[in-house]
Amino acid sequence: MIGVFDSGLGGLTIFKSIEKKLPQFDYIYLGDNARTPYGNHSQEVIYEYTRQAVDYLFGLGCTLIVLACNTASSDALQKLQQSYLPKKYPGKNILGVIRPLAELASVATKNKVVAVMGTRGTVESKSYIRELQLQNLKIKVVQQACPLLVPLIEENWEKYSETKMILKKYIRPLKSHFPDTVILGCTHYGWLQKDIQKYFGKNIKVLDSGKIVADKLSEYLSKHPEYAHVSKNKAQRIFLTTDDQKRFEIAAQKYLGRKIKAEKISLQ
Ligand code: DGL
Repeated sequence: MIGVFDSGLGGLTIFKSIEKKLPQFDYIYLGDNARTPYGNHSQEVIYEYTRQAVDYLFGLGCTLIVLACNTASSDALQKLQQSYLPKKYPGKNILGVIRPLAELASVATKNKVVAVMGTRGTVESKSYIRELQLQNLKIKVVQQACPLLVPLIEENWEKYSETKMILKKYIRPLKSHFPDTVILGCTHYGWLQKDIQKYFGKNIKVLDSGKIVADKLSEYLSKHPEYAHVSKNKAQRIFLTTDDQKRFEIAAQKYLGRKIKAEKISLQ
């Protein structure tokens, strides 16, 4: 069983690609919708929320968790991997999204200017700057925190003209640095992928985070098959949310293009 965790609906953009690439496995998607957005919280709070989600998912029998959330990957992953997992869950693992996206961007960029759009938490953690420069010290990273986008997406406002106007305002300063590659450093922005690509223009590549993470996961599982087994029965899909399940179902159905059932849980 593979857990996919996000602060809310955003991780569905990653889950959709993972499920497409690796349909044979069982998945539990957990969205902490009740406490989203994570991006404006302190690192301590983000760690604590993420740890609770990790406990919950491992408690349900997951052997591997993908922290689809960039904010959780930036602020909690390292501590979880280095101090929490070895003591509490030996033999299980947690993967994040920052490294796979940075690795791909470092190869994709020709002019060595990479733009990163993310939450305040992700931008302030400098996790993308560190990872991109680990790949190639010559890469210049320009970042933009876009704190208004997550609440708009959680409210299903992604098609509204107000959202498009705010999006353009966030993109303008990034374009002035002439990046040729853009990382959507927040899962929620995947809901706006087409608009973001349109505003950057066709000469700037906005990376498909879902596809990149799914490809990396597939590579990882082929090297570490012990983390996910193909069950004999029909592959399971479980959707959990910490907020109203009806609202989650409506939004998830819109994004995944099929009917799903969600269950409300609480994290502590
Ligand atoms: N979707 C999350 C991310 O990828 C964060 C959104 C939020 O809760 O602020 O960073």
